[in-house]
Amino acid sequence: MKKNNEFNAIEFRDDNLILIDQTKLPLCEEYIHTDDYERIAVAIERLEVRGAPAIGISAAYALALAFKKYKGKIDERFVKVHIRLAATRPTAVNLFWALNKMKECFINIHDKENLYTKLLQTAKEIHEDDISKCEAIAKNGLEIFSKKSVVLTHCNTGQLATGGGGTALNIIKKAYQKGLVKFVYADETRPLLQGSRLTAFELEKNGIPFSINTDSTAAFLMQKGMVDLVITGADRVAANGDSANKIGTYNLAVLAKHHKIPFYIAAPTSTVDHECPDGDSIKIEFRDGNELTFIRDTPITKSKYTSFSPAFDVTPAELIAGIITEEKLCKSPFKF
Ligand code: MRU
Repeated sequence: MKKNNEFNAIEFRDDNLILIDQTKLPLCEEYIHTDDYERIAVAIERLEVRGAPAIGISAAYALALAFKKYKGKIDERFVKVHIRLAATRPTAVNLFWALNKMKECFINIHDKENLYTKLLQTAKEIHEDDISKCEAIAKNGLEIFSKKSVVLTHCNTGQLATGGGGTALNIIKKAYQKGLVKFVYADETRPLLQGSRLTAFELEKNGIPFSINTDSTAAFLMQKGMVDLVITGADRVAANGDSANKIGTYNLAVLAKHHKIPFYIAAPTSTVDHECPDGDSIKIEFRDGNELTFIRDTPITKSKYTSFSPAFDVTPAELIAGIITEEKLCKSPFKF
């Protein structure tokens, strides 16, 4: 039984995946119940479920669910569903990390009886593993606080974005409980407003004092000495520490450097891509221009205007004071 202020972002119950529909938050708390892998693929594309670890976990459940009732050729089915899910979003490496884990599991199942149950077991392990990684990240992140601090964050990196309590936002939550966070500034995070909708929703649920600001207000806040620390998440960390995260993160890191404010990234090791030597090899997702010209169904400019909409940018390692994983607080030169 959930208390009033509790919610489950991702839950697997009665052979269905239950996702809170993040496109409706914070105004409506509605859930998507499905056992259809295609519906989950679409949920990832529409950002009904989003955030790097949450995307990976949902895709793992989707791959298992594809075998719940299936009676045809399983090898072909696996390849088809794997390709479909891998095509949903390109930047968050956790998606490919989770799909690879599912593939390893599939290859190692010699007796394909009860395939669904076995794949589901691996998907549940991926989910549980992320819950414990979130806890460890929060614990390791406490190290970056030398005093009661005002923190600025970008996008949403909490319970909605992961299987557990979050990455950057979980550090903020834990630090707040320990008396180490005074106030949080949440960048609204244009164009899809993960900050003013989702981070605000989670900060409210956790009773943490905050305000939302336009992304461009970050410069004002830093210039006025109103921010002690910046912490964000990441969608993919290259082997040298260059980190892709929501568009606007790089701006923050440059600003933080100028104002001598430490800029941290928090991410599980499943976000580290050892195959990517540096940020140049990280594939950046470009989103539909309508996400800039409309807010929900309301046009805010002429829809015929062309728009340029990269969903992520890359912050060079040299601007990052530390990367907090479930293992440790890594400092430059980064080695994971
Ligand atoms: O486009 P989104 O909302 O999926 O982007 C999410 C982010 O950029 C998060 O900061 C990142 O995935 C880390 S989530 C713990």
